[in-house]
Amino acid sequence: MSKKIRAAITGVGGYVPDYILTNKELETMVETNDEWIVSRTGIKERRILKGEHQGVSVMGIAAVKDMLRKTGTDPKEIDLLIFSTITADMTFPATANIVATAIGAVNAFSYDLGAACSGFIYGLATGTSFIESGKYKKVVIIGGDKMSAILDYTDRTTCIIFGDGAGCVLLEPTTEDVGVMDSILRSDGSGECYLHMKAGGSRMPASRETVEKRLHYVYQEGSAVFKFAVTNMADVAAQVAERNNLKAKDIQWLVPHQANKRIIDATASRVGVNEAQVMMNIQRYGNTTDGTIPLLLWDYEKQLKKGDNLIIAAFGGGFTWGALYVKWAYDSK
Ligand code: UT7
Repeated sequence: MSKKIRAAITGVGGYVPDYILTNKELETMVETNDEWIVSRTGIKERRILKGEHQGVSVMGIAAVKDMLRKTGTDPKEIDLLIFSTITADMTFPATANIVATAIGAVNAFSYDLGAACSGFIYGLATGTSFIESGKYKKVVIIGGDKMSAILDYTDRTTCIIFGDGAGCVLLEPTTEDVGVMDSILRSDGSGECYLHMKAGGSRMPASRETVEKRLHYVYQEGSAVFKFAVTNMADVAAQVAERNNLKAKDIQWLVPHQANKRIIDATASRVGVNEAQVMMNIQRYGNTTDGTIPLLLWDYEKQLKKGDNLIIAAFGGGFTWGALYVKWAYDSK
């Protein structure tokens, strides 16, 4: 009997812009302070993509080029490129199309995927299915957002949280016992009222009025979202571990979406792992929405060893949430 084809992560790339927006600078923009931001969220600074007409594609292209360079991959061999984002360059065409052409993936098809902060894990699960079908050999999943494009820098409840950045992974088939082993994905549209952007879509197209009413920015009822996030992200992470018979001692790394350090801590304690096993970079990048998880893999890649068990978990607007069990496929050089 032929062995099951699994999707292995065989490379990671990332990019964060140079400009650092510190809590101190935010203190000059809105009524806030470093102590409140650090104690309520864990964030010290975040990156901002500056410059005219710089869309999220700029960061996606840089992240994929980084991955191609590190893995020595010929872009012509890429079959599929998925860009998970809620801040596409334009409503259409897909930003994935722009990135694929810019990096020379001339034989790939490409599309965007929208699931807010869970977008990257949805993308990873989707790409996994394409690989497992046996038809596709190289699939790139990008997660990234230019959150600064949709933030109201007069609203202290949202502008302190988010930042800009993008990361990506390369998926390839393997018959070894590594790769994406399992996933649980969920969504609940009744969460719409707590986290959304009111205007700019087909329900409320852009008009003078929508701009004057500041409706093109992230709207979030933070404490309501917090309550959903803290239970659902922890539950789903624990579920995917349990149904794969993984006890805390078997898990090398928890890879949690970086929305709030308190949510990360709650998820870690539910899964039973200690702080040293939890990937965290929220202090440096804030919440980059679709970018958080690939940027964690990018930052921690050198510490990962073949066979390490990773539990990846996310929660975001929609609501959307989910968790994946990934067995790491390579030792980093
Ligand atoms: O990634 C996608 C999913 N998103 C999330 O998971 C975000 C989940 N939510 C959160 O992380 C937290 O709810 C926030 C960080 C957004 C807010 O923290 P919180 O502890 O829930 O604060 P709160 O909204 O309950 O506000 C507490 C107080 C309020 O003042 P009063 O009414 O108690 O006087 C706010 O006005 O803190 C005030 N406040 C601030 N104070 C200083 C809100 N924002 C700020 C601020 N600086 N930036």
